[in-house]
Amino acid sequence: MIDPELGDDIVNLGMVPSVDVGAGGDVSVTVALTVAGCPLRSQIERDVRGRVLGMPGVTSVDVIVGEMDAAQKSEVMDRARWKARQDAPVTAVSPTTRVLAVASGKGGVGKSSVTVNLAVALAHRGLTVGVLDADIWGFSVPRLLGIGGDVEARQGKMVPLECKVGSGLLRVLSMGFLADEDRAIMWRGLVLNRAVQQFLQDAHWGDLDYLVIDLPPGTGDVQMGLARMLPRTELLLVTTPPLAAQKVASRAADMARRGYLRVAGVIENMSDFTCEHGVTYALFGSGGGARLAADLGVPLVGSIPLHPDMARGGDAGEPVAGGDGALSAVFAELARAVAEEVAPLTETSGCTARLLEDVERALEHGS
Ligand SMILES: Nc1ncnc2c1ncn2[C@@H]1O[C@H](COP(=O)(O)OP(=O)(O)OP(=O)(O)O)[C@@H](O)[C@H]1O
Ligand SMILES: [Mg+2]
Repeated sequence: MIDPELGDDIVNLGMVPSVDVGAGGDVSVTVALTVAGCPLRSQIERDVRGRVLGMPGVTSVDVIVGEMDAAQKSEVMDRARWKARQDAPVTAVSPTTRVLAVASGKGGVGKSSVTVNLAVALAHRGLTVGVLDADIWGFSVPRLLGIGGDVEARQGKMVPLECKVGSGLLRVLSMGFLADEDRAIMWRGLVLNRAVQQFLQDAHWGDLDYLVIDLPPGTGDVQMGLARMLPRTELLLVTTPPLAAQKVASRAADMARRGYLRVAGVIENMSDFTCEHGVTYALFGSGGGARLAADLGVPLVGSIPLHPDMARGGDAGEPVAGGDGALSAVFAELARAVAEEVAPLTETSGCTARLLEDVERALEHGS
């Protein structure tokens, strides 16, 4: 179990002082948090319960949450700092940025469409949102957002393209800004396998509230690289309604577990289609999203209906989330669920993440 703020597992960090296993499989786990009022408290509590309950032989779990004393807290911070130094230069993504990667087991389920529309809907909430197109070979974010141009360099680092969205802001990086589609093929194998790393390390992302990452389909190198570079990344798994798709998506969840990425929730795309007469058809079946969410013990964050506006908006480079059609409300609700329930921003003023940020800044300046 990774502490989302500190980016290391909670046992390594010394946050689990005791685990008692009773004869009948009754388990009691004590978790000591750095701050009693930690905004992530209920999330950590729920994740610990879920993980332990999923182990063979466990019949019940009691999670006791306490607070560390000053000495324990400084020890944890030392360990976290040490880790930050080990990985330095970690990434250019601020420790206070919530990182959400949109993933799926297979292609064509709507990851890229969900990524850009979720990002736009979050920006409409007044947030600053990074969009990283990690689909290096099959990038589609520039086309879906309708933006283009050359990425400029400042002090040897890439400056993401910016666009204002409502009262918020998007900062976008994609291979599509660095190479046209034909040339990108020629680059294959040369720089491309390091592109995601460079997008994370050698870019001026600035102070982002969220970074939403569009992953290529499947469970390949990009996913593993991301788990290594940004282990606090949380996955939003996109699946379509058929149960077969749900099985494929759960493979992506397995991969995430091995890479220690947390699955934050499931999004079902291409759900029921409602025609102009108001009749609803489950064209691709139904239940896949809910089933996958239940299997993984994570929330179903939202269901996005099958709707021709989605393809139209994508082709025109005008994300439906920014329009006034039916899907705009769907994505507004998805963004609300993400921002308020599934992956809320933390109030970091008294929190360890803020301290870590200072440490990283100091490291960057060589002090
Ligand atoms: N809810 C929806 N209703 C109708 N069409 C949709 C919906 N979601 C996505 N699409 C369409 O499905 C196609 C695939 O979507 P998208 O490119 O977002 O999928 P992807 O998972 O990113 O694909 P890839 O694996 O190739 O990266 C696009 O043409 C898109 O417009
Ligand atoms: Mg895609």
